[in-house]
Amino acid sequence: METTISGNIQGFKQQGEALVIKAAEGEARVYIYSPTIIRICISKNHHDADTSFAVIQKPVPDFDFDESAEFIRINTSALKLRIHKSPLRFNFYTADGKPLSEDDERFGTTWQGSRVITYRKLYPDERFIGLGEKTGNLDRRGSSYTNWNTDAVDYTPKTDPLYKTFPFFIGLHSGLTYGLFLDNTHKSYFDFGATTDNQMSWFGADSGDQNYYFFGAQGVPQLLADYTWLTGRMEMPPLWSLGYQQCRWSYMSAAEVLDIAKTFRKKQIPADVIYCDIDYMEGFKIFTWNKKTFAKPKAMMDELKAMNFHLVTIVDPGIKIEEGYQQYDEGIANNYFATYPNGENYTGYVWPGRCHFPNFFREDVREWWGAAFTALTDIGVDGFWNDMNEPAAWGQNMPWLVQFGDKDMPEVRNAYGTQMARATYEGTCKLLGNKRPFVLTRAAYAGTQRYSAVWTGDNTGTDEHMLLGQRLVNSLGITGMAFTGVDIGGFSGNPTPELMVRWNSLGVYTPMFRNHAIQGSKMREPWKWGEANEQIIKKDIEQRYKLLPYIYSAFYQSHLTGMPLSRTLAIEHSFDDLVFDTRFQNQFMFGDALLIAPVESTRMNTDVYLPPGSWYRLSTNEKFNGDQIVNVDAPLTDLPVFVKAGSIVPMQHIVQSTAEQGDGILELHIWHNEEPCLFTYYEDDGLSYDYQTGAFYKREIGFEPINRVIHLSSVEGTFSSKYGKIQLVLHGFGKVNLKQEMFDLENGVMEIGY
Ligand code: GLC
Repeated sequence: METTISGNIQGFKQQGEALVIKAAEGEARVYIYSPTIIRICISKNHHDADTSFAVIQKPVPDFDFDESAEFIRINTSALKLRIHKSPLRFNFYTADGKPLSEDDERFGTTWQGSRVITYRKLYPDERFIGLGEKTGNLDRRGSSYTNWNTDAVDYTPKTDPLYKTFPFFIGLHSGLTYGLFLDNTHKSYFDFGATTDNQMSWFGADSGDQNYYFFGAQGVPQLLADYTWLTGRMEMPPLWSLGYQQCRWSYMSAAEVLDIAKTFRKKQIPADVIYCDIDYMEGFKIFTWNKKTFAKPKAMMDELKAMNFHLVTIVDPGIKIEEGYQQYDEGIANNYFATYPNGENYTGYVWPGRCHFPNFFREDVREWWGAAFTALTDIGVDGFWNDMNEPAAWGQNMPWLVQFGDKDMPEVRNAYGTQMARATYEGTCKLLGNKRPFVLTRAAYAGTQRYSAVWTGDNTGTDEHMLLGQRLVNSLGITGMAFTGVDIGGFSGNPTPELMVRWNSLGVYTPMFRNHAIQGSKMREPWKWGEANEQIIKKDIEQRYKLLPYIYSAFYQSHLTGMPLSRTLAIEHSFDDLVFDTRFQNQFMFGDALLIAPVESTRMNTDVYLPPGSWYRLSTNEKFNGDQIVNVDAPLTDLPVFVKAGSIVPMQHIVQSTAEQGDGILELHIWHNEEPCLFTYYEDDGLSYDYQTGAFYKREIGFEPINRVIHLSSVEGTFSSKYGKIQLVLHGFGKVNLKQEMFDLENGVMEIGY
């Protein structure tokens, strides 16, 4: 095989929005998206179609550049790009000239056949974070990864690849930050100095363009804001989807579903969501109901609704080959399925047996798929769980010959799941009118946050998997995915009662809080673990419901800025070695205020690294100085959760579901600090898209320690809060004689008399 290394340039010119640089080996196009985002697209054979499944922004129409003997020079207010002419190399610097990321001088971008790889200089202290759902350590230096969406049955803490492709990483070195997003859906590769004697990092794909976006903002939060500006941010999720979710493969009948729901209500364990896994269908045919076991789905839905439960049903892409089955007949009649190159429909085996697979890359197929959800939405289902969309078929490797219209499997496999989630989201949005659907997907590509939440597939009921799951969630958070979850308890195997309790307590602080288990495993509902454990699980679920005003405001922050809910400490403390120490790498902030330290179920105390600042243990109000490692108790009743001093956390009293009105009291918890602090409180109806046209309730809440007052800004938005009163709850204020503890929501200033 011939290896081609990009050589000297032959010329360059501005063409529309791009600066086009010609070299003997191919051509490179440079586009500017913002002062901190520059796109480089290097093609062996340039073709004009320029589509992306991820990017929703357009480049600026025009920009300045100049040249010297050695370089083409492009400057933005934040970045300097120096394009070395002979040979062609791309080097990025800060505006004041500090190197951020440079091509390896020897190799730069190379081809072997259609495979394109770029080799980059590796800085001595360089660390890497990101790539979404990838096993291994928080610091990815010394690791190598492949993106090829896979039904990763029985995955281990080392398996790669898993289900999703997020080819975005952040580099950290010399006190500087940068990001790089390779927007190429072919099988792709990232090596962070694992195999190069610490000389280089490298990335690339089996084919297609070396099409990457370079982000030069300083600070990880700014990089996340830029990445999610480019690829989109999530809409507000339905509030009910943030409540407790109970799932199982499968509740086998409507009677069982109702029985589970009733038990939650009888035992007063709060919950909002119950799931139907594949067995609700007739022979696993999508958009059908089993005529025996789910004979009257509407009646079941009505009963669930009366109990304030939402139902989420699973949908897989495989359409059973069976004449007379509507989706099969329509798909055949309209050529909606993936084919072999000779036009025959591709057939693979999944749950229903022999199946065809919709070509979700076509708009009319997406519309057809979306419209079919009436079978579910008509009776009141508003949650849709997209599974098996890597796409999966028994035997794993769908032939590379399979085509989706003019695209073939190797080209777009990694984007199939996102296109299915998109079809589901867009279709159900239409059917539900102004109501927000909840969409969950297993396979995904960059940009999926615009359509769906994700979960990390078929994990296992072990402590190791619980900790790994947290790293996956934290890592997905820095690739745009704020709404994420894991199967709590572990999908496969049977967790010990201790692990179930511990994992559930961690689930309180996971964006999506879902208990799920494989067929044949022991039942997992909160009351299956003995009376004492049931009480702990219940108390933890109640804690989730208390925190919902805080969690919902954090989702709003994500909707606005791309900041995830579950935040690796590397976001704020990017150059703090202890954050990357494998003892502490699973720790994370949940929103602005809470630091969570996951602990195995077998350990009743643990070392926790508290970053600089002061911290309070949430359960005891014990105060700790930060910038140190502390050893704390971690009984199963009390997961180590710390609050950053100077935090404001709005909470509510316990409700049994998000549909309950509650007592109208918003508790404002404030943890003392010498510095003033601010919180953006956000509320809306939790159900509709009216917030997009101003129907929200937003206020800045500030605490000023010097004047001993709490300020509430005037209300933005037209929505009326469901809380009429504010109750102050102060922590770490010493002896406080509150003149008044309860305030009307209208209050602008609350004086604390201490
Ligand atoms: C897959 C999913 C799992 C689901 C099962 C049956 O394994 O990952 O969550 O329960 O299929 O539908």
